[in-house]
Amino acid sequence: MQFMNFPRHRDVAESVTFADFCEACWRSGSAFPWAVTDRVTGQFMGALELRLKPPRADLGYILGERFWGQGFAGEAASAVVAWAIAQPGIFRVWATCHPENVASAAVLRRAGLTYEATLANWDARPQLGEAAGPNDCYALTKSPGTEEITPPP
Ligand SMILES: CC(C)(COP(=O)(O)OP(=O)(O)OC[C@H]1O[C@@H](n2cnc3c(N)ncnc32)[C@H](O)[C@@H]1OP(=O)(O)O)[C@@H](O)C(=O)NCCC(=O)NCCS
Repeated sequence: MQFMNFPRHRDVAESVTFADFCEACWRSGSAFPWAVTDRVTGQFMGALELRLKPPRADLGYILGERFWGQGFAGEAASAVVAWAIAQPGIFRVWATCHPENVASAAVLRRAGLTYEATLANWDARPQLGEAAGPNDCYALTKSPGTEEITPPP
C-alpha cells in the first residue's frame, strides 16, 4: 500500500549513519532504538524505538517487508510497551499511525493500546504528496494514583 512506502536506505553507508545515530540516541537518552532480530537466527528484521518523556512515552517501529505478518512487530511492541508502562513516572504510552495502516493499528492493539482520536494534519507525507495528513492516536494509560512525584532537577 502506498502509505507504507517509507523511505528506504539506498546503500550501506546510509545504514551505518543510521546505526551511528541510534547509538548517539542511547548515549544522550533522547530515544531508545532497538534492532528487532530473529530469536533463532539473529537475523536483523527491523527497528523499534521508544522515547521516554515523562509522564509519557511513545514508540515507533518498522520491519523489512519480508518479515511482515509473522507476529514479530506485535511481540516486540508488546514487550517494550509492558516495560514502559511499568516504569514509575510513566502514565501514558502512545503512538500514532496512518488511519489505513491496519497492520500498525493491530500491533498497537496487541500491545494493549486503544484508539483515542484521529489527529488532523499530524504527519507530512511527501511520498503521498501530502503536506499534512491525519493520524490515529492510540494509548495505554495508568492512573497516577498516589505515586510520589519527584520534581525535575
Ligand atoms: C506495521 C508493521 C510493523 C507490522 O509488522 P508485522 O510484524 O507484520 O506485524 P505482526 O505480524 O506482529 O502483526 C501484528 C498484528 O497485526 C495484524 N496484521 C499484520 N499485518 C496485517 C495486515 N496487512 N492487515 C491486517 N492485519 C494485519 C496481525 O494479524 C496481528 O494481529 P493480532 O495480534 O490481532 O493477531 C509492518 O507492516 C511494517 O513495518 N510496516 C511498515 C512500517 C510501518 O507502517 N510502521 C508503523 C508506522 S505507524
